[in-house]
Amino acid sequence: MTIGPLSFNSTFFLAPLAGYTDAPFRQVAHEWGAAAAVSEMVSAEGLARDSANTEALLKRYAEDEALIVQLFAPDVDPVMRCLDKLMKHEPVMIDLNCGCPVPKVVKTGAGSALMKTPEKMHEIVSFLVKESGLPVSVKFRLGWDASSINFISFAACAADAGASMLTLHARTRSQGYSGNADWSQIKVLADMMKGSGVRVFASGDVFTADDAIAVMRQTGCDGVMIARGAMGNPFIFKEAGLLTNGARWEPSLQDVKATMSHHLDLMIDSFGERIACREMRKHAVHYVKGRPGAVKAKGLINNAASRQDYEEALSLLA
Ligand SMILES: Cc1cc2nc3c(=O)[nH]c(=O)nc-3n(C[C@H](O)[C@H](O)[C@H](O)COP(=O)(O)O)c2cc1C
Repeated sequence: MTIGPLSFNSTFFLAPLAGYTDAPFRQVAHEWGAAAAVSEMVSAEGLARDSANTEALLKRYAEDEALIVQLFAPDVDPVMRCLDKLMKHEPVMIDLNCGCPVPKVVKTGAGSALMKTPEKMHEIVSFLVKESGLPVSVKFRLGWDASSINFISFAACAADAGASMLTLHARTRSQGYSGNADWSQIKVLADMMKGSGVRVFASGDVFTADDAIAVMRQTGCDGVMIARGAMGNPFIFKEAGLLTNGARWEPSLQDVKATMSHHLDLMIDSFGERIACREMRKHAVHYVKGRPGAVKAKGLINNAASRQDYEEALSLLA
């Protein structure tokens, strides 16, 4: 699968997830077969102002990581001011967030608020395409709410601005993350972009490898962004990859234990033990979910403050 000059060995990407898709999680996803992984959303304004917290989001797991950075901005101004700084991190692709529903973000005019101002999105994408020389993608929703569904004209506008890839999270802004994603609308977009060279990625309600295959079959999309389905479950990338060829596989208990320990070690390397052990809790509860012993393990994870605490939690899994 290609996006502009880039080629990928599968069609399954780790979606951007604020608070989750840091370098350790992207690395683990990559090791289990994710073709690519998108950074947490990065504030163009924060980057332009040299915010240390924003810069930290651009940390990569290895020099050769194919880093896809997601930016959020209300208009082209902070994007113009941050581009040189962003390019120093040598991303291979830049994604523009037009889907974040969080009030703190949309009240500035960024995230899904850009769906109300497509001309601003057009300006940002045109600028990035021209000045970065990289493939640019846009991630958006069906519309602001049920009475303002505009993803078709928004997608056409993004393609006109030169976007190489479009990811549709098939919910409206007002749905947040609730209700069902409407995959039939992803099919509408995929049909519309067929033959244009612009890749269409599906997002929404891909929780299992079967979902990943189903959304590709039902919509004819080029690829899938796996989001909540990958939390504590990087194995989904291997599973989906194999299932594409009809083969069934699932991780062993040993895979789960070893991967969670490895993920924690990467977090400790990146952030130090104190912060890593706190931040790992949200991943760890997903790793153990649904397994015998999970209830007791979660009890330990909720207060885990050391590597030892996590080892104890894992020893409770059967
Ligand atoms: C905790 C969380 C953080 C997210 N952060 C981002 C983000 O930074 N940028 C973005 O474009 N989407 C973000 N999303 C949306 C996901 O990328 C994805 O589009 C959405 O969760 C739908 O997929 P799913 O139903 O399979 O989870 C986030 C979702 C969640 C649950």
